Amino acid sequence: MKLARVCKHVSEEGLSILTLLDRYTGMYEYVPEDLLLRKAQLYEKALAREIETLKKLKLVEVHPTRAAYRITFLGLDCLALLDLVKRDVLSHMGPPIGTGKESVLYLAKTPLGSVVTVKFYKIGRVSFKKVVRTRDYLVDQSSWLEASKTSAEREYRALSVLSKQTGLVPKVFGWSRHAVVMEYVEGVDLCDYRSAEDPEGILKRILLTLRVAYLGAGIVHADLSEYNVVISIRDSTETPYIIDWPQYLSREDPRAGERLKIDVATLLKFFKRRYGVLLDLESAVKYVKGLLDGI
Ligand SMILES: Nc1ncnc2c1ncn2[C@@H]1O[C@H](COP(=O)(O)OP(=O)(O)OP(=O)(O)O)[C@@H](O)[C@H]1O
Ligand SMILES: [Mg+2]
Repeated sequence: MKLARVCKHVSEEGLSILTLLDRYTGMYEYVPEDLLLRKAQLYEKALAREIETLKKLKLVEVHPTRAAYRITFLGLDCLALLDLVKRDVLSHMGPPIGTGKESVLYLAKTPLGSVVTVKFYKIGRVSFKKVVRTRDYLVDQSSWLEASKTSAEREYRALSVLSKQTGLVPKVFGWSRHAVVMEYVEGVDLCDYRSAEDPEGILKRILLTLRVAYLGAGIVHADLSEYNVVISIRDSTETPYIIDWPQYLSREDPRAGERLKIDVATLLKFFKRRYGVLLDLESAVKYVKGLLDGI
């Protein structure tokens, strides 16, 4: 069932149960029924009925032996989506457009008609399934949910600051729980783009964005590669957007210098390998840090 349709099946009571399960995720791996009954102010029978529906919709999971429940990633998707619609960040949900290692992305629209993507973080989901399959040890799913929320918040914060300094990152529209709403950049990932007209120009614009991020926003990407750059082509102009910022480091972080060097080196290596573009690493790093005026 489509995500938006699943959300429509959730009743008011169901929504308050999901909200409570989410609120207590950081404290309990499975939230005890007693606590839910008290907080949701529901009778046992009503709670059982709601839980049954939420379980069928795959929005909650029931503990195998205890009367206790936990929210699933799909449950969190519904909460985030309903919240974003209520706050007028989103008005329309479109199809999924991709799956990253740590996220699932959907196309969507804002009330003013901007085309955006909703990035739902799903950290640990893949490894979680693997661990359950091998049954080596018990995984605390709640920490994956919390880690996903932290990543969404960090990406939102980074993009908010960066958008004020540069147009070459997606504009950000809002965030809720593990979901970030950002401008949809129509284009091709740099790794899949094989026919660049002006590879050196693209590389220099990426370096300029890194410089603005460093000098203006005070941050380092810290996971930059050809997989985290989207090339948009409009009126035959190639424009590189840097995406995927949750792991950013502040310029003051002791690891920032080293990470910046790795980011730049990864980029230079890619452009050398694919397009034969040669730039000196030390000079490029100095340029990003504002120690050289040009590159
Ligand atoms: N704002 C955007 N506009 C258009 N496409 C996007 C946008 N953000 C992400 N994408 C697409 O979705 C893919 C995954 O996004 P992103 O890199 O942010 O997630 P991720 O989970 O970190 O992925 P991975 O770990 O595989 O790099 C990108 O490679 C890109 O193709
Ligand atoms: Mg990525």
